[in-house]
Formats: sequence, C-alpha cells, structure tokens
Amino acid sequence: MKTQSAIAAPLAALAALALSSCVDTSQDIHYIPTPEAVVEEMLRLAEIEDGDVLYDLGSGDGRIVIAAARDYGIRAVGIEIDDGLLERARENARAAGVEDLVEFRKQDMFETDLTDVDVLALYLGTTQNLRLRPRIMEQMEPGSQVVSHAFSMGGWQPDVETTVENRKVFKWTVPLEFIDGFPPVLPGDGEAES
Ligand SMILES: C[S@@+](CC[C@H](N)C(=O)[O-])C[C@H]1O[C@@H](n2cnc3c(N)ncnc32)[C@H](O)[C@@H]1O
Repeated sequence: MKTQSAIAAPLAALAALALSSCVDTSQDIHYIPTPEAVVEEMLRLAEIEDGDVLYDLGSGDGRIVIAAARDYGIRAVGIEIDDGLLERARENARAAGVEDLVEFRKQDMFETDLTDVDVLALYLGTTQNLRLRPRIMEQMEPGSQVVSHAFSMGGWQPDVETTVENRKVFKWTVPLEFIDGFPPVLPGDGEAES
C-alpha cells in the first residue's frame, strides 16, 4: 500500500507545475516563426550595409539573426526569453556556420540596450511594438532601420509597407528629430498624422 507521502509528492509536483505555468508572465508573446520568404524580405528592406549590427527582439529559433549573418556577413544578436529556443538558435547558428558572427542572449526585450543597433527586426504584436517605440526613438541613431513582420507602429508611418506570402512587412527609418513626442512631426512635414 502506498504511504501518504508517496501520493503527496507527485501531487505537490503537479501543483507546482500548474502554478509555474500560470505565473510565468515573462514571455510577452508566444513563439511563431517568420516564414523564410518574409525573413528575406525583411532583410532586403533593411538596406543592410557592411558593419551594421542587427538585433531581433524575441529571436525564436534564430532564423532572422542567422540569415543576416549568413546572407549579409554582418554581426547579429538575438534577444530571447525562452531557454529552449535560445539553445535551438545556437544549434542552428552552428549548423549554418555563423556562430562567430551571432550571439543569442537571454534577456527581456524591454530591457535591451538598443544604442548600438543599426537594424532592428521585430515579429511581436502591436502592443509590444508600441511599448518598444519610445526606446527605439530614444536609443537608436537617426537613420537606423526598423523592420517588422505583420505589425505596425501605430501613428509612426512606415517608409515601406509590402506583402509577402500574404504577410505584411513594414520598414521605418529612425528620424532625426521628434517634436512633441508622438506622433512625430519632422521639420517640413507639416501636420502630424493621427
Ligand atoms: C512571434 S515569435 C518571433 C520569433 C522570431 N523573431 C521569428 O520571427 O521567427 C516571438 C518571440 O518572442 C519571445 N519573447 C516573448 N516575450 C519576450 C520578452 N519579454 N523578451 C524576449 N523575448 C520574448 C518568444 O519566446 C518568441 O520566441
């Protein structure tokens, strides 16, 4: 006959598992990969130059970061919260032979320093994009590029909006100056769009 503790232990483990999945709020958006054709278009729109550094916030299996290193020879960094995906991305980078050019960092994307980022890649959601927007404005250099799969930046109008395999792709250039916060009014632009 089972003792009380032999029954209690598995029950406690189950309860802990259920609780941990309920209270884990660190992942702001779930993993869904960007199709390869969309990755290609995001990188094409980003007008990558030699020496640029690309970041993908929420890098998943690393496909955008790896493609940037493999196809453009630039340094690229993936920011990801999920340990399993970080491990998978590092394995994929090794398999693609770009491990010297890429880095996958466990970090909350809302705490990532963007000051050295020339190209920022996103596949998140509108809420996350809008939350990141002030950091992009404050930290990224004017002239640097932001590309997003599927989701816009609210009132910040993209330079390019296109469609690949029925997926929207957006590209913005970080402007020189913002007046009165957001939406942006750039010198000579006239009225801000709502
Ligand atoms: C929709 S997936 C995009 C994956 C990849 N960028 C792509 O396009 O294939 C979003 C990713 O963001 C990660 N993520 C969610 N919240 C995060 C956070 N606060 N900090 C870093 N990564 C996060 C998820 O684990 C997931 O891998």
